[in-house]
Amino acid sequence: MKINDINHVAIIMDGNGRWAEQHNLPRFSGHKKGLDKIPEVVKELINNKIKYITLFAFSTENNFRPQEEKENLHNLLEFALNKITKEIRKNKIKLSFIGEIEHLPKVLIRKIENTTKSYDINYDAELIIAWNYGGRQEIIKAVNKLIKQNINNINEKQFEKLLYTTGTPNPDLIIRTGGQKRISNFLLWQSAYSEMYFTSKLWPDFNKKDVIKALNDFKNRNRNYGKIN
Ligand code: IPE
Ligand code: IPE
Ligand code: MG
Repeated sequence: MKINDINHVAIIMDGNGRWAEQHNLPRFSGHKKGLDKIPEVVKELINNKIKYITLFAFSTENNFRPQEEKENLHNLLEFALNKITKEIRKNKIKLSFIGEIEHLPKVLIRKIENTTKSYDINYDAELIIAWNYGGRQEIIKAVNKLIKQNINNINEKQFEKLLYTTGTPNPDLIIRTGGQKRISNFLLWQSAYSEMYFTSKLWPDFNKKDVIKALNDFKNRNRNYGKIN
């Protein structure tokens, strides 16, 4: 039986609001519970030799949510960054962000810059947070760079260099929690041949056993890339 190689797992962490609703709590509590789940899942992925982990935490379209929810999410991000800085360094995890970070509040931008500084060490894994990220916006941004440079012919490899994800392999597996079966503007270019795994579990309920289930499901898939095996 063929076992697929896996380097990069990306997760659409959906279902925080519904989790809160199920527990008669405000939406904010769902987001907090969701944040608390991240270390368990990331650790399990790293234990399973996953080198790149991308977490979809805030989409471009999430900007159309009420101001209060956005502020809550920004505060949670700031809280999380304060908390994890030491831990990720100790565990040799490189932290990076993809998305339009430049439009965030200034204090948050500074915090992100501080936490994502790279050190001259060999990292064991990279944790990529997609924040204020949209796949279409990423592609348009790349096209605008081309226009600015008067470039009128380009191949895939060159185009990939203009994306946020340059240097990162495409996700092998994309997990979406929360029951919806859609991509919601996540890694549109990069997901061309990603395997998709959908689970109805809400993100705050997703745990390390669910990680193993998803990885096992992935292992036995036939990745054809359009060819005949
Ligand atoms: C995902 O949970 C987190 C973000 C999109 C920021 P949701 O907030 O979308 O939760 P549901 O889908 O309403 O349950
Ligand atoms: C996708 O969830 C974005 C994140 C998990 C950050 P949404 O809740 O925003 O997606 P839709 O609106 O259901 O498609
Ligand atoms: Mg949702």
